[in-house]
Amino acid sequence: MALLPILQYPDPRLYQKAAPVREITQDIRDLVRDLAETMYSAPGVGLAATQVDVHKQIIIVDTSDARDTLLVLINPEILASEGVQYREEGCLSVPGIYESVERAEWIHVRAMALDGKLFEFESEQLQAVCIQHEMDHLRGKVFVDYLSRLKRNRIRAKMQKQQRLSA
Ligand code: NI
Repeated sequence: MALLPILQYPDPRLYQKAAPVREITQDIRDLVRDLAETMYSAPGVGLAATQVDVHKQIIIVDTSDARDTLLVLINPEILASEGVQYREEGCLSVPGIYESVERAEWIHVRAMALDGKLFEFESEQLQAVCIQHEMDHLRGKVFVDYLSRLKRNRIRAKMQKQQRLSA
């Protein structure tokens, strides 16, 4: 098991697009285990492989109160969505920044599980926001990209300053 370093905004590697996973190998299983350890220890409610500089379509989410319900989504797709919701979002790649962005209220998702089988489910509320947020990472999109240029520039400057101070 290992804690993986999380890329910090505005690292250009956060803008890389992830490739689909062709086959569940031991490397993929090891990666998912490390992603989970990294997410729980942060702590966070979701993490995309992109954020640890692995550009494969893998996300993990756990929005349960007990933090004991890990959802692993490989090659996730949103087959249908409905409605609109706004919730304050944060991101382990943009620590200390919380902003609301527009998300679908309800989504129907298809993904591959760690056993290689496809499965489908419906999601809403916080979990649906989290899945949409993490799926954006796979497309090379960070939630602050939805904000105004002014706000984004302010966040970028703040992050770069923090990173200089901690370097
Ligand atoms: Ni994020």
